[in-house]
Amino acid sequence: MTSGGGGGGASKAAAAVTPLRLQHYLVMAGVAAAVVLACLRYAPAAATGAGYGFVLPAAPHHGHARVVVPAGAGAGAAARDRDEEEEDADTAAPAAPPSVVIFNFGDSNSDTGGMAAVNGMNLNLPEGRTFFRRPTGRLSDGRLVIDFICESLHTPYLSPYLKALGADFRNGVNFAIGGSTATPGGSPFSLDVQLHQWLYFRARSMEMINLGQRPPIGRRGFRNAVYTIDIGQNDLSAYMHLPHDQVLAKVPGVVAQIRYTVEALYAHGARKFWIHGTGALGCLPQKLAIPRGDDADAGGGDGLDAHGCLKNYNAVAARFNALLADACALLRRRMVDAAIVFVDMYAIKYDLVANHTAHGIDRPLMACCGYGGPPYNYNHFKACMSAEMQLCDLGARFVSWDGVHFTEAANAIVAAKVLTGDYSTPRVTIASLVNSTTALPNDQQP
Ligand SMILES: *[C@@H]1O[C@H](CO)[C@@H](O)[C@H](O)[C@H]1NC(C)=O
Ligand SMILES: *[C@@H]1O[C@H](CO)[C@@H](O)[C@H](O)[C@H]1NC(C)=O
Repeated sequence: MTSGGGGGGASKAAAAVTPLRLQHYLVMAGVAAAVVLACLRYAPAAATGAGYGFVLPAAPHHGHARVVVPAGAGAGAAARDRDEEEEDADTAAPAAPPSVVIFNFGDSNSDTGGMAAVNGMNLNLPEGRTFFRRPTGRLSDGRLVIDFICESLHTPYLSPYLKALGADFRNGVNFAIGGSTATPGGSPFSLDVQLHQWLYFRARSMEMINLGQRPPIGRRGFRNAVYTIDIGQNDLSAYMHLPHDQVLAKVPGVVAQIRYTVEALYAHGARKFWIHGTGALGCLPQKLAIPRGDDADAGGGDGLDAHGCLKNYNAVAARFNALLADACALLRRRMVDAAIVFVDMYAIKYDLVANHTAHGIDRPLMACCGYGGPPYNYNHFKACMSAEMQLCDLGARFVSWDGVHFTEAANAIVAAKVLTGDYSTPRVTIASLVNSTTALPNDQQP
C-alpha cells in the first residue's frame, strides 16, 4: 500500500542508489532514525535518508489461562517429544530437547539481529550495553520482549533467519527484520517476504525429511509451533504525513496483510497464533520530536493528550489495533481448529507512560540515547550511535532507548505483562499455548 516502488528486494544500500526508492525511504524516515544513523555510518555516504521504523513482539507465561486450542491439551510437550523421537534421537540436544518452537514475524521490535546480519551492519555500543554487554543487532540496550518470552519458556533466544554464523533453529526462526512493513514492497523484508522465507524454510525442511535427513524442526515442530506476529508500526508511521482521515483509510489495508499472512500460514498447517497489536506510537520521542503546528492534525491545542502523547498517532494506533482485533475474531470463527490470540500491546505500553512513576520511570517521553536533552532528547540527525549522542546513565530507568525502541527495562515490564495473559484475547498465556496440543484432521505422523 505504501506507494513504494518495485519489488521488495532492494536493500537499504541499494535504495540509496535509486531515486525512487530514496523518495520512498524519505517517507519512511519518520519511522526510525536509529537505524538510519546506523546505515549512514556503515553504508556508502550516499545513503542519506533511509528511514526505518519498528514494532514489538509478545510474551508468555504459565499461570491461569485455559488453553484455547481444542483437543486434548495436557501432555503436549510429552506427546511432541515422543513424535519427534526419531529426530531427537541423534540430535542429542543436551538437557531437554527443544519442545518449544516459535516462528516470529515482525519488525525491529522483535528483530534479534536479522537486520544487522542482512546489511552487514556492525552496531556499536551502547547498543546492548545493559544486558548482553555488546551489540547483538537488537536495537535496544538489552533484551526485547521476544527475548523475555523465550526466557519464560525456557528456550534459547530466537536466531534470525538470515544469520549466517551460529544460528540454531531448533526452537524456531525469527523472520523479523528492522524496518519491516506489513505492506508488500513497503520495505525489503515486508511481511509477504517473511512469509515466503518461512515457506522456503519449510519446503527445504520437508525436502530434508524426504531425503532421510534431519532438519532442525520436524513436521511436528511446524505444526505445534507458535506463530508470533508483531508488525504494523512502520506502516502506520509511513502514512502519518497524510491528513488524518487518509491515514485512517489506510489502516484496513495494513491489517488485511496480517490477516492474509495468518491465513497463508494456516493453509500450510500453522495452528497457534500469537499476534501483537501495536503500541502507543504517539508516546515515542521520535514522533514527539517532529515539529508540529499549534493545532496538530487530530487533537486540539498542541495535539497532545493528558500524558503528553500525540493524539493523532495514538488514534491511528488504536484504530489499527481495533481492526486487528476484529480480524483475529473473524479468523477465530473461520479456523475453528486454530488458536488465535490477540495481545493488547497498546494498553501495556500506554500504561507504561501514563503510570510511569509506578514503574519507577521519571521521563517516559525522553529517549535515553539521543540528542538535544529534555523534553525528548531526540534529533533525527543526531540519533543514538551518532558521534554526538547524549546518553542517559547506565541503570537510569527510561521507557525509550533511542526514541523509537524500548529499553531493556521497559521491555521487561512490557513482557511481564504480556506473560500474564491478562492482555490476551482469548485470555491465555503463551506458555499454555505452547503446551496445548492441536487436533488436526489431517494429522499425519512425521
Ligand atoms: C508446559 O509444559 C511443561 C513441561 O511439561 C511444564 O513444565 C509447564 O508447567 C507447562 N506450562 C503450562 C502453562 O501448562
Ligand atoms: C494507570 O493505572 C491505573 C491503576 O492501575 C489504571 O486503572 C489505569 O488504567 C492506568 N492508566 C492507563 C492509561 O493505563
